[in-house]
Amino acid sequence: MDVKEAVLARRSIRAFNPEPVPREVLEEIMENALWAPSWGNTQPWKLTLIGGETLEKIKEEYVQMFGKGIPANPDFSMPTEFNVIQKARYQGLGKGLFLALGIAREDKEKRNAYYEEMMRCLGAPHLICLHLDREFHPYTLMDVGIILQTIALLAVEQGLGTCILAQAIRYPGVVRKHSDIPDDQMLVMGMAIGRPIMDHPVNIFRSERGKPEEFLNYVDVG
Ligand SMILES: Cc1cc2nc3c(=O)[nH]c(=O)nc-3n(C[C@H](O)[C@H](O)[C@H](O)COP(=O)(O)O)c2cc1C
Repeated sequence: MDVKEAVLARRSIRAFNPEPVPREVLEEIMENALWAPSWGNTQPWKLTLIGGETLEKIKEEYVQMFGKGIPANPDFSMPTEFNVIQKARYQGLGKGLFLALGIAREDKEKRNAYYEEMMRCLGAPHLICLHLDREFHPYTLMDVGIILQTIALLAVEQGLGTCILAQAIRYPGVVRKHSDIPDDQMLVMGMAIGRPIMDHPVNIFRSERGKPEEFLNYVDVG
């Protein structure tokens, strides 16, 4: 598989086979991903991989808290406001996903079941938690994005799928309770990883992209 193939094949996987991935495969992905670039080669990331019974406990606690309506309390707040164009894209994603899943707008029960599935890391057998020293500079988030995409592409090469999952760190206290991530670390992003159920409608769904001219500008190029 070449790089372009991996870039185009990667998509967010939202239905996983629960079977664990062998540790050697995960180690190969993670250790190769450590070659991602970072500001001044600072390599600010810390990555904790969680699986097995521990992840099951986290998932169950998440489902319970979500069911009780306990609001998300992430260490690093998620964006809630977007400009008009970005809002339209965000809403378009939600509509497309629910359409693919056959869930009607007014069907609160099925929507809730889907959100619960997200609390269960979409069925993934492993969760990667990316954490940083609490006093991190916002610039560090560039490094975080790069390593996460590197992991996602290396996973594709191994026939695995990923979903960057902010929802997986909505209750950081639960993750800390069941793992050894210290208090001086801020949980910044989660990523579900495992084998995709490729014929699941939510995985057949493909998110859209704007036209190249919406994003790209060439000055004095060719
Ligand atoms: C920082 C970040 C957080 C995300 N969090 C979630 C999430 O909590 N739930 C989810 O279903 N997808 C999440 N995603 C996946 C995006 O929705 C997805 O990348 C986007 O719709 C583009 O689709 P694609 O990844 O299939 O190309 C997240 C992506 C990023 C970059």
